[in-house]
Amino acid sequence: MKFSVLNVVAELFLFLLFFSSVNVFAETKSITSPDGNVFVDVSDEGGVPAYSVQYRGQPIIKKSSLGLEFKELEGFVRHLHIVKAGITSSNTTWVQPWGERKNVRDNHKELVVEFSQMQKPFQYFNLHVKVFDDGVGFRYEVPKQDGLGTVDIVDEKTEFVIANSDTTTAYWIPGRAPTIDEYLYNTTPLASMPRAQTPMTMKLASGVHLSIHEAALVDYAAMTLEQKHPGQLKADLTPWYDGIRVKTQTPFVTPWRSIQIAPNAVGLLNSNLILNLNEPNKLGDVSWVKPGKYIGIWWAMHLNALTWHSGEQHGATTERTKSYMDFAEKYGFSGVLVEGWNQGWDVDWVADGSSFSFTKSYVDFNLAEVTAYGKAKKVKLIGHHETGCSVTNYKNQMADAFDLYQKMGVEQVKTGYVTDHDKCSRIDDNGVVRNEWHDGQFMVNEYLRSVTEAAKRHISIDTHEPIKDTGLRRTYPNWISREGARGQEYNAPWSPVSNPPEHTVMLAFTRMLSGPMDYTPGIFNMAPSGLNAERRVKNTLAKELALYVVLYSPVQMAADLPENYLAKDGKTIRPGFQFIMDMTTDWEESKALAGEVGDYVAYARKKRNSNDWFLGAITDENARKLSLKLDFLDANKSYTAEIYRDGAQVDWKTHPYDLIVEKKTVKRTDTLDVSLAASGGVAIRFAVKK
Ligand code: NOJ
Ligand code: CA
Repeated sequence: MKFSVLNVVAELFLFLLFFSSVNVFAETKSITSPDGNVFVDVSDEGGVPAYSVQYRGQPIIKKSSLGLEFKELEGFVRHLHIVKAGITSSNTTWVQPWGERKNVRDNHKELVVEFSQMQKPFQYFNLHVKVFDDGVGFRYEVPKQDGLGTVDIVDEKTEFVIANSDTTTAYWIPGRAPTIDEYLYNTTPLASMPRAQTPMTMKLASGVHLSIHEAALVDYAAMTLEQKHPGQLKADLTPWYDGIRVKTQTPFVTPWRSIQIAPNAVGLLNSNLILNLNEPNKLGDVSWVKPGKYIGIWWAMHLNALTWHSGEQHGATTERTKSYMDFAEKYGFSGVLVEGWNQGWDVDWVADGSSFSFTKSYVDFNLAEVTAYGKAKKVKLIGHHETGCSVTNYKNQMADAFDLYQKMGVEQVKTGYVTDHDKCSRIDDNGVVRNEWHDGQFMVNEYLRSVTEAAKRHISIDTHEPIKDTGLRRTYPNWISREGARGQEYNAPWSPVSNPPEHTVMLAFTRMLSGPMDYTPGIFNMAPSGLNAERRVKNTLAKELALYVVLYSPVQMAADLPENYLAKDGKTIRPGFQFIMDMTTDWEESKALAGEVGDYVAYARKKRNSNDWFLGAITDENARKLSLKLDFLDANKSYTAEIYRDGAQVDWKTHPYDLIVEKKTVKRTDTLDVSLAASGGVAIRFAVKK
């Protein structure tokens, strides 16, 4: 071969190409949602895995990096290229044993892209991308392979670079802040958000709404979103006490990173994306998981009228529990929650919950007696395990505690993990006390342990101060509800700031996108310290009723003291209580009808195994009129609409109780005009006319 300068250059180029880690021939793989609106591409340009998302032809997520960084190993951050890719599609419908709807359609396409290191040891991972009409989910799958066994993840490189971020509004609560997830929501330009918990909702200038969250958070750290550069949201995984984010081993998968996309705010509420990204039920027959309504020895403690701890004012007595059970039976509640029944409340349990016993009752509470009393009335005791997040103390007693409840016929337990967000305390294998975050990998596993241990005894769990919901109720249907936001309790005197009129409206478009919430609505005495008090419920009575429809939970509390549901005679019920008595907590179908984030929202839901529909609409501090089309009602049927609405004199500050209860005959073709007062609402039951 004739020597030429050209040849040398060409040889040199090939040599460099072969041995360099720069991926000159960038590959891009793409996938489109079944309806063609959502478009995702995945690329390896520059050796860095990346993706971008378009919706209806407009960029939503600009090119955003992906990757996993490992301690002491090369990991998957750079020098990577696409080896192969494939697309499959699936269109199925699955059934929820209980839920906001019975049948859930899962119609998606999935792209699996294998990324490999370009140099030794040629380790690889698969990126799974599922694209639905209502958004995108993607996760990393790292198979077992040579040289990759135990892995410490020190950073996840996933980014969400928001297109047109300077005109985007964000609705968010802080991530990794002192009180886990119990914050009022901020509404700010996206650029003003330093770090958020998910789900985090955004509104783009075009009106398109997004919510970034995660699904199937199992054996991994929770993802918060950090914004170091405007518009560039980066996964920031909550670390262990020692700074490692995730301690795992191959094979493993990460949770799904999810982006819900809708043309408007209401569209977000009708999405099934998070549930569809979770695995099917692993518990088999779950007919023992029972949605229902409950009351409880609860609010009186928050009002300081009774105490959790022992003494004169101890709330959880046998006698009081029995009288609550009488009330429950009379007015159709299936459960009575009793907090403070067990020993351990007489110390500063928020600072240190290690005194809690989960089997020993206070002397004035007889567990066997109250459960036997309830049995005769078909009213269940709802158990309570406040742990103060002393999780080793809880773990050591867990089997005995659930065994005891099972023996007593208790079918639901409310758990609690009150303490500072970074102060969940565990004792490690060497006897050393370690503090962990509520949403780090260690606690993620602890919460699931309580759920699976309970499942073995056919007990359902309602977690307070929980790990955020990521749709695991599909896989573990006994994880029946959670708190995970500022609930009604913040209207008690201990909270310096009560929930403002906007709060519950905001919840509908943010926290509620992750799953059911045990908000505990239905306070009828809004202001025990007087209407002028700052610390009180800042709603009208009609709005308190509407919350039962708007804030979905399969277990709903009538949170007030039982006597507050009765008139002065102690016999007749107060206006509005009938709605709670008629309400269900298990739905055939749910439809968000109207709304804007933080302004107002209207929902219609159809009761399971019934023709009844319910409607709830609530507004923020602004009064407004809504014209609601009743086209969700079944065709060819006529309904009696039992309407609970704000009265003419109503004013949440001065006259919160002015409630009009009226009946109208309506059908599917009608439109209902409703006026919501400031911080008001409307609650309606539609009963088929015989
Ligand atoms: C916080 C819970 O959210 C609340 O419902 C409960 O009463 C207290 N912890 C005590 O466990
Ligand atoms: Ca709480």
